Amino acid sequence: MTELVVRRLLVDLKTPLPRHWCEGDAFRTALFNALSMSFPAGEQFFIDSVRAGWKLLPADRQGHYKDEVQGFVGQEATHRRIHTLFNDHLKSHGLVNHWEPRILWMRKIIAGLHPLHMLSITAAHEHFTAILADYMLRNHDMLNNTEPRLKTMWLWHAAEESEHKTTAYDIYRELGGTEEWRLKWFKRVTVLFLIDTARQVVNNLWHDGTLFKGSTWKSAKAYLFGDRGMLRSLYQPWKTYLKEGFHPNEHDATLSQNWLRDHADQYTRVGSAPATAAVAAA
Ligand SMILES: [Fe+2]
Ligand SMILES: [Fe+2]
Repeated sequence: MTELVVRRLLVDLKTPLPRHWCEGDAFRTALFNALSMSFPAGEQFFIDSVRAGWKLLPADRQGHYKDEVQGFVGQEATHRRIHTLFNDHLKSHGLVNHWEPRILWMRKIIAGLHPLHMLSITAAHEHFTAILADYMLRNHDMLNNTEPRLKTMWLWHAAEESEHKTTAYDIYRELGGTEEWRLKWFKRVTVLFLIDTARQVVNNLWHDGTLFKGSTWKSAKAYLFGDRGMLRSLYQPWKTYLKEGFHPNEHDATLSQNWLRDHADQYTRVGSAPATAAVAAA
């Protein structure tokens, strides 16, 4: 069982954001904005999946996972709240969230499936967020010229994604989820995630007026495919999920643990409510 702490982040999200808050870079800002737009609806789906899976466990296994699931729900609920505040600023920048309605539409399409499918989809996304988190923590210097409050917000979220990366996966396994469906959903989720990200990034750049600027695409090429490029760096860790018998703990979590230890002044620990109440109420 993984011990998960729910933290209240001590950053100001009321003061307006600069339009190109990510180091003054239009492309990277549009990319992170797109990801943030998916979080409130996406993370609600993860919460609902884990909660539904937990309820299907036998009583003794529910007890085993009770605190971990409470921590998972608390962390994702906090991410939703913080990114909703962040996303409100994006609306004032004239950006339009097209990704969220697609997530809500997808939820309706898969609503009749067994909760194991929801868990498999969630575990696949959690692998994405965990490897992306590791990338961001490893390359934290690439946010050095970003306002400290925003750098803290992104790295705090990254650290917690790495911290709770096993929860959905382990409950999927406990319930007898198969390798076949784990891999099927992972491949489907990969395609959808890439398409949805690309669509929202292009739309953000369109509303930003920077879609057709050469500097935007020069930055995209460097950030995605350069020496420390995101896609270039994430390909190998992405592939590990395809391995028979893969477990998320195969990826080291030291960077997450170090960040949380070194930035303890940036958050407070949230007092714990009774676990079953939190699991049921989120
Ligand atoms: Fe999250
Ligand atoms: Fe997560």
